[in-house]
Amino acid sequence: MTDRPSTPEWCLITELGHRITKVHNKGKRLMALKAVLVSLALAGAAFVPPVSAAQLTVGFSQIGSESGWRAAETTVSKSEAAKRGVNLKIADAQQKQENQIKAIRSFVAQGVDAIFLAPVVSSGWEAVLKEAKDAKIPVILLDRDIDPSGKELYLTAVTSDSVHEGEVAGDWLAKAVGDKACNVVELQGTVGASVATNRKKGFDTAIAKHANIKVVRSQTGDFTRAKGKEVMESFIKAEGGGKSLCAVYAHNDDMMVGAIQAMKEAGLKPGKDILTVSIDAVPDIFKAMVAGEANATVELTPNMAGPALDTLTAYKEKGTVPPKWIQTESKLYTSADDPQKAYDGKKGLGY
Ligand code: AHR
Repeated sequence: MTDRPSTPEWCLITELGHRITKVHNKGKRLMALKAVLVSLALAGAAFVPPVSAAQLTVGFSQIGSESGWRAAETTVSKSEAAKRGVNLKIADAQQKQENQIKAIRSFVAQGVDAIFLAPVVSSGWEAVLKEAKDAKIPVILLDRDIDPSGKELYLTAVTSDSVHEGEVAGDWLAKAVGDKACNVVELQGTVGASVATNRKKGFDTAIAKHANIKVVRSQTGDFTRAKGKEVMESFIKAEGGGKSLCAVYAHNDDMMVGAIQAMKEAGLKPGKDILTVSIDAVPDIFKAMVAGEANATVELTPNMAGPALDTLTAYKEKGTVPPKWIQTESKLYTSADDPQKAYDGKKGLGY
């Protein structure tokens, strides 16, 4: 059953309807009909039907499926849209900015009500976002940010504080190693991605307070499991078999899962001889914690679309202008936090 709106305009229409059915005389009926039409015309001038989430079509330019977290974000976005009756069109850019730009242009041409963008890198968005702005299509950034010069080109950004995530990881490591000398290798995310730049910056800031902790090697693993493994293998080789290493910091759990594999294959004991700290909190990192092969992760929620859709609906329905940044929570999990329970709670969520 559909709910009837209770706006004054609908009350007027309902009342007029009643008046027609009550009139039995043909002449009177015609006069009443005329009155109805005039009244409807007057009411119609002021009657702007509210936009509900169920009427919205949103285009989402997603980066790709480079990590378990990304796959979960896509799954959760679909279910959050379905819950609200929003028609969500997802374009997979396969990690390429040029594909994202094409997708945005296509969404603009289709006249969607809004565009969600997870920007693979932070620069180079001005021209295409200006096209969306000129077409009066609001853009909401999900999980990654763009360069400050583009700030006026989007409505809001739903992201974590990725500098803080790096700081949380660095603080955890500093506490775990105490005064012990600690050589760290770092697996960075995609070059040019805001989260990679920020997670590096946050970690560097946290360990700068501890002269005993040093990043001895740092390279991109592009947020993928395969590259994480490959780069870790080269780190181990370059560090004489890895015996002098004390910890691995990876900008996401997928790269860490690949690095754990590389360490095991090299005869090292991840989680024991070499500490691990990474970001995302995907089920597989909890599995590794249960096996004693991983130590800590900082959670990134895959539900960026839910808050974005609510913000968009409030903007469209009531004109509520959101703050420029809607920040999601970053929570540290360690092997002391019941990793089996965390794994069980997350394994069915599309990771
Ligand atoms: O932008 C969020 C990052 O992108 C996630 O931490 C990583 O797994 C993903 O690929």
